[in-house]
Order: sequence, then C-alpha cells, then structure tokens
Amino acid sequence: MSKKLFIETLGCAMNVRDTEHIIAELNKHQSYSQTQTLEDADLIIINTCSVREKPVAKLFSELGVFNKKKKIGAKIGVCGCTASHLGDEIIKKAPYVDFVVGARNVSKITDAVLKKGTVEIDINNDETNYDFADYRNSLYRSSINISLGCDKSCTFCIVPATRGDEISIPSQMILNEIQKAVDSGAVEVFLLGQNVNNYGKHFSDKTETTNFTQLLQLISKIEGVKRIRFTSPHPLHMDDEFIEEFASNPKISKQIHVPLQAGNTRVLKDMKRGYTKEWFLNRCEKIRTLVPDVRISTDIIVAFPGESDEEFLDTLDVMEKVKFDAVFNFKYSPRPLTPAQNMPNQIDDATATKRLQRVIELHKEHQDEHMAKLVGQTLEVLFEELKPNGEVFGFSDNYIQVFVNGSEELLGKIVKVKVTSASRTSLKGEVV
Ligand code: SAH
Ligand code: F3S
Repeated sequence: MSKKLFIETLGCAMNVRDTEHIIAELNKHQSYSQTQTLEDADLIIINTCSVREKPVAKLFSELGVFNKKKKIGAKIGVCGCTASHLGDEIIKKAPYVDFVVGARNVSKITDAVLKKGTVEIDINNDETNYDFADYRNSLYRSSINISLGCDKSCTFCIVPATRGDEISIPSQMILNEIQKAVDSGAVEVFLLGQNVNNYGKHFSDKTETTNFTQLLQLISKIEGVKRIRFTSPHPLHMDDEFIEEFASNPKISKQIHVPLQAGNTRVLKDMKRGYTKEWFLNRCEKIRTLVPDVRISTDIIVAFPGESDEEFLDTLDVMEKVKFDAVFNFKYSPRPLTPAQNMPNQIDDATATKRLQRVIELHKEHQDEHMAKLVGQTLEVLFEELKPNGEVFGFSDNYIQVFVNGSEELLGKIVKVKVTSASRTSLKGEVV
C-alpha cells in the first residue's frame, strides 16, 4: 500500500525543483501519495530556506508542533539550505528528527529515509551527472536545473555556503531531460540556477564548452518546446550576445529577472555585485529597446550596512528609470557565514522600514502604469489551470497572470487573448 508524504517547501524556485526531485527519488523505492494533512503522513519533510532570517527558532518550533501531531511511527526529515547550514545541530536540538539532507545532497534522500540519524550535508557533492527520477508539479511546465551552487560571493548572501560552488550540468543531460518532459506533455521549460547566464563556466568535464546563449539555441530547436523561461540571470553576465538572443528568439518568454539589489555604485561594491549603477541601467535600456513589451522584474535590498539616505536615493532613481514590472523587496537581513553581518554601520530597523515603504509605494505607481497600458492589447497566453468559478488561468508570454472564461479545452495551449481589464497584478480577457 502506498505511504503518505507531507512535504512543506519554503523559498525559491530551486527549492521547488528540489522538492520535485525528492518526491521522484522517494517513489523509486516505495510508492508515496501526497497529503496536506500532517496527522495522516508516514513521512514528513520540511524543505527549508535560509536566505533571510526566519529565526532558526521558528524551524524548531514548527518541528516541535509536527512531532506532537504526527502519527506514531511517522518519520520527520529536514532538507534544504537550513539543513546544509545547521547539519547535525538540528538532530542535537530536536532528537526526534530522523534525517537531515542538505540542498546539495538531494540524491541521498532515499538512503537517508531508511537510516535514522543520517546527516548528508556535503556542499562539495557533485550531482551534475546524477540522473534524478522524473516528477513535476505542473503538467505543462517543466523546471530543469542547469547548474548547481553559485560562484559569486555577494557579501550579504548565505547561498554559496549552503549550495556550494557552481557546477554546470552537461548540456546533453539537460536536452535529454527536456525531450522527456516534452514527450510527456510539457510545453514550457523553466531553466534554473543561481546565475543561469554564467552557465558553462564550470563543467566537471573540462572538454564541454556550451555557454548559456548556445544552450538556449539548442533548447529552442526541440520541437515540442513552445516557451522557454529562466531564473536568475546575473546583470554582470548580461553581454550583448545574450540580450540579443533573448530579444530575437521567439520561443524565449519576454520576461526577465534583473536583480538590482541596490542602486548606488559604492553600495554595490560593498555587496561585491561586480557591476555599477551605469552598467545596470545600460543593460536594462538595451533590453527595453530591443524588446519593447518586455517585463523586467528585480530584487531590491534596502538598508544594507553603511547605505546612507543619499545612497538609497540611487535605488529609487534606478526604479524611476527602469520602471520595473515586478519588484521583490527585502530589508537587509544579517546572515551567518556572510561578511556583511560583521560590517560596521548596520542600519536600524526604523530606517529600513521607511526605505522599504518608499520602494513599495514607488513600485505600485509603476505597476499601475504598466498594467493600465495593457487593456485592449492582444497577448499570447499559455493556459494551465481551470478554476472552480469557471475561469481558466494562464500566463502571457511576458508572464502576467491572465484569466478568461472558458473550458478545459484551453489547457496546455497557447491562445491569443484580448485584455479587457487590469488589476495591479493580473489581467482579465477574452479569447480571440
Ligand atoms: N542568485 C539568486 C539569488 C538568490 S537569493 C538571484 O540572483 O536571484 C534571492 C534574493 O534574496 C537575492 O536576490 C536578494 O535580493 C535576497 N537576499 C539574499 N540575501 C539576503 C539578505 N541577507 N538580506 C535580504 N535579502 C537577501
Ligand atoms: Fe547569492 Fe549573489 Fe550568488 S545573491 S546566490 S551570492 S549571485
């Protein structure tokens, strides 16, 4: 009889993909069905994120609750970046945790489940040639890792310490995986890595030379692939060749994440981001010139140590100039294992809150401006979900949520839709 798995996923798209891999691997040896009811589960897994300070206490209090509620004999595992970071400390503090598997050790999950007390957190583990079993959350979208880890050392970021050095996955493995996904109904591929456009710099096999632009070209030759997306590219590696491929390849979704972090060049230098305000603006301008209907999203951190009021204005200035379509905004959060936590001039929370508020307010203006312009336009939408109220939901080519009245016949298809109304974050329309 199949066992029941309760799995909670926190954090980024890579974690969502790791969860798919965890489910696929577990099913190799023992069939699991998923449950949302903790009390029913035979196996409980938390796939954690550590990029910002969700106090570790929160993980432990959640673990305590899970331990009380779980049925007798159920196992509890902790996976992901906090597992990599804390390792066996987790079992010391919460001895009822059965196993700990880090973000770089997903291939070890089946053995870990079988052996109480397993801690697998080696960040040098090379999984680039490991053939993970298949499983995906979405019928139509297939998420594919193209690299593991990160070769940067942004001074605020814990990721290189939890996911290890960057290694590129062999292009042939990526292409095979995509072909398999397409054969089983996927139409969109979502390429994942911490710096996708740095792809190809760190193969374990030193004879391979494919770079990111070439990888995009190879993937777009696969017949069943209708739409290609990726996250996250790094502004530093946005050379002209890459931007021109992004602009001219009709299969590439016209939405791009260009993570700013801060607008001031001195602050960027302290963050070790490797680019200046001018370079960032120049890249965004080139993207908007070549792709007028592009949507640009970004990440912004306010109140990095030492950021003065005047320097913060550069962040608002970049926002005014680029008018981002989506902004993920964060207060700087000091993280263990990072240089920025020990920098002088840490900024007080009241200042950080004020700055964050200004970012949010300005962004709302830009969002409203962009969304209002879309009413009356015709967009290409890939439909993926039938809602209980009879609406069908999908994403446009430039990745805006779109709702229409329709039936399941639309699912998995790319269809032209005329936009009839817009809210701040989604559109309604009619199939034309
Ligand atoms: N390579 C990824 C970054 C992963 S972390 C990318 O470029 O998207 C995701 C985002 O979390 C970062 O872009 C940054 O904006 C934010 N972040 C990382 N560390 C942080 C910290 N210490 N405090 C606040 N935000 C942070
Ligand atoms: Fe983090 Fe910078 Fe890498 S934000 S994931 S160290 S590019």
